[in-house]
Amino acid sequence: MIEIRTKYIFFIYLVLVGFIFPACQIEQEKEVFMDKEKHRPLYHFTPPSGWMNDPNGMFYFDGLYHLFYQHNPDTTIWAPMHWGHAISRDLMTWEHRPVALYPDSLGMIFSGSAVVDHRNTTGLGRPENTPLIAIYTYHDEEKNKAGFLDFQTQGIAFSNDKGKTWEKYAGNPVLSNPGIRDFRDPKVFWHEATAAWIMSLAVDDHIRFYRSSNLLEWEYSGSFGKDFGAHGGVWECPDLFELKVDGSDVSRWVLLVSINPGGPNRGSATQYFIGDFDGNTFTSENSEETILWLDWGRDNYAGVTWSDIPEADGRRIFMGWMSNWDYANQVPTDNWRSAMTLPRLLSLFNTSAGIRLKNYPVIETLSLRKGTLVLGAEEKSWDVGPAYEGRIRFEMPENADKDFGFEIFNQAGQVVRVGWDAGLKNFYIDRTQSGTNDFSEEFSGRSLVPGVHGNEVVFDFWVDVTSIEVFIDGGKIGITDIFFPDSPLTGLRIFGDVEMMGGAVYTIQ
Ligand code: FRU
Repeated sequence: MIEIRTKYIFFIYLVLVGFIFPACQIEQEKEVFMDKEKHRPLYHFTPPSGWMNDPNGMFYFDGLYHLFYQHNPDTTIWAPMHWGHAISRDLMTWEHRPVALYPDSLGMIFSGSAVVDHRNTTGLGRPENTPLIAIYTYHDEEKNKAGFLDFQTQGIAFSNDKGKTWEKYAGNPVLSNPGIRDFRDPKVFWHEATAAWIMSLAVDDHIRFYRSSNLLEWEYSGSFGKDFGAHGGVWECPDLFELKVDGSDVSRWVLLVSINPGGPNRGSATQYFIGDFDGNTFTSENSEETILWLDWGRDNYAGVTWSDIPEADGRRIFMGWMSNWDYANQVPTDNWRSAMTLPRLLSLFNTSAGIRLKNYPVIETLSLRKGTLVLGAEEKSWDVGPAYEGRIRFEMPENADKDFGFEIFNQAGQVVRVGWDAGLKNFYIDRTQSGTNDFSEEFSGRSLVPGVHGNEVVFDFWVDVTSIEVFIDGGKIGITDIFFPDSPLTGLRIFGDVEMMGGAVYTIQ
């Protein structure tokens, strides 16, 4: 009898140990994994794991958009920088590639750019190959710690297999440092008019320009910015390109400059200048005091544009890092840190104050749309899910004297508010009640945009689990903010006394 009972107990033990406990464990592990991943966006680019900051070396070649990024594959904090790598055919879906550049004896691999060297000016190509050239900053932390000033230099790596593998140039660095602490983030392009490669480099509180015939030897040609624009922090990640003004044949040069801190709503942000480039230096057509922001939110930094997009396409496409140095190392994600903004089309438009820059998600975002929900004016609240594109039109009262806007929310009462503050005469995103925000004193708050309004206002917005990118009037104003709710903000509702003239939501995934 005892023996039978023992056998029976042993059998139950086997069932528990063999099937039920492991199953529970797998379930638990799944839950832990899901929990660790709960803040990961569904359609924005994120690293597979580890840390990410600036987008780097973006170029188009042979049907593929390449994206590199500042990356620490080993932990989720900023530490020895590598270049992570991903490719895409449509700018929306990305395939992760092996890490492209590792730190070496000259230092960590900081931000920079990459170009297609069509004419093999470097001589680094092979007869059967067009060489791809990455130009980046070496940051030698040992030298920095030892008190030297010249610890940032510029180096080159090349690829002869369409960007699959990268080899460092034996003659690095190609541009040494004259003794200036902040000397980084080279962005290079081919300037057809003067037949030379041009490098824009962030140097302390201004931008310096260098010229080269072969990307290997560089000559200083001019500088811009000491007395222009915002100077609340160090200048970083420049980009220089020419653009047509919408609906005309007139063109202007645009210089993007990221600044940290000193953004319009504190911390990191990207300003821009409009003017001319003569092959040697940039001149602004606005006054020294004019400050222009590409995005008013807290979370669009270090953005630059793709190079080598074919002329037949002709677009200037921008992508930024969706975080802020004020709290980037503290955001409450587990396996990974940071996402990129959506790729955005840059264009110029006329205003009474002069020519200004617009940014708006590229047309490829249409391919993300799954379902459509028309937002009828008689309703005020909808269940829209965690990831979608939305568009809402409001009538703008004559004196703009009424608060109005929309909120995204969850059942726990966590909410992100987007609207018009009649008292301040400001548009804004408010994330003070958006969920976890105690990881940094710098995080909670409102991103404000000083008053601009007409008879009506159109908000286009892209929500993706932990981020919202808002574009007012077709991208004349951009505001990008991240947030960390306990559960996704799947509700959408209107607030205020102003008439909503219509809207739609396109669900994604
Ligand atoms: C901008 C930046 C760059 C630098 C890189 C280091 O966010 O500070 O100036 O190259 O990040 O990761």
